[in-house]
Amino acid sequence: MMSAKDPTPSIDPFSLELDLEQGLLPEPENRIVRRASDMRGYYADEAALERLIAEAGDPIHYEVFEVPVPEEAGQLMYCISTLRPGRVGDECFMTKGHYHTVAETAEIYLCLRGEGYMLMKTSAGRCAWERMARGRMVYVPPCWAHRSANTSDGEPLVSFCVYPAHAGHNYGDIQCEGFPRRILKRGGEVVFAGSASPGPAVTS
Ligand SMILES: [Fe+2]
Repeated sequence: MMSAKDPTPSIDPFSLELDLEQGLLPEPENRIVRRASDMRGYYADEAALERLIAEAGDPIHYEVFEVPVPEEAGQLMYCISTLRPGRVGDECFMTKGHYHTVAETAEIYLCLRGEGYMLMKTSAGRCAWERMARGRMVYVPPCWAHRSANTSDGEPLVSFCVYPAHAGHNYGDIQCEGFPRRILKRGGEVVFAGSASPGPAVTS
């Protein structure tokens, strides 16, 4: 039990320097890499994804750098997420998206570089999106699944993220449900297209 008089001994105060431009932690303990082949089942145009894997050498989609803190209530986990630019067909490169395992936990994304959107949904089918650009912060409330998409034509989408350390990641539910919208780029314009499959009907 933590108290102001008797703080938990599991971690001491610390500080570090971030590379805000490149989106790097100096010495991340964890580096999570998602390649195009990890994204099978997420994009509408599966043939375009297979061409990308075969012809572009299975390129990196996104990376997450983190120096973990204890996964216990009261702590704050943080990371830097770097999502590469690109398209699968006309669908913007995106992250898998997830709910938190402890669903009643929020998250803050501070965008450091690039442009894109945070796409969010609830299990009841509500859907929302917020623009991401350098200096913009997105607040993801508890119980909202979230996925980011890079809409730029050549720049990574870099964000600093903070969330309760005991939140955990639930990828399975959103993999089954899908998001009600897909973020496309057609003729230079961002399009929020309805998603026929998988996922429920669009309600907002
Ligand atoms: Fe999250």
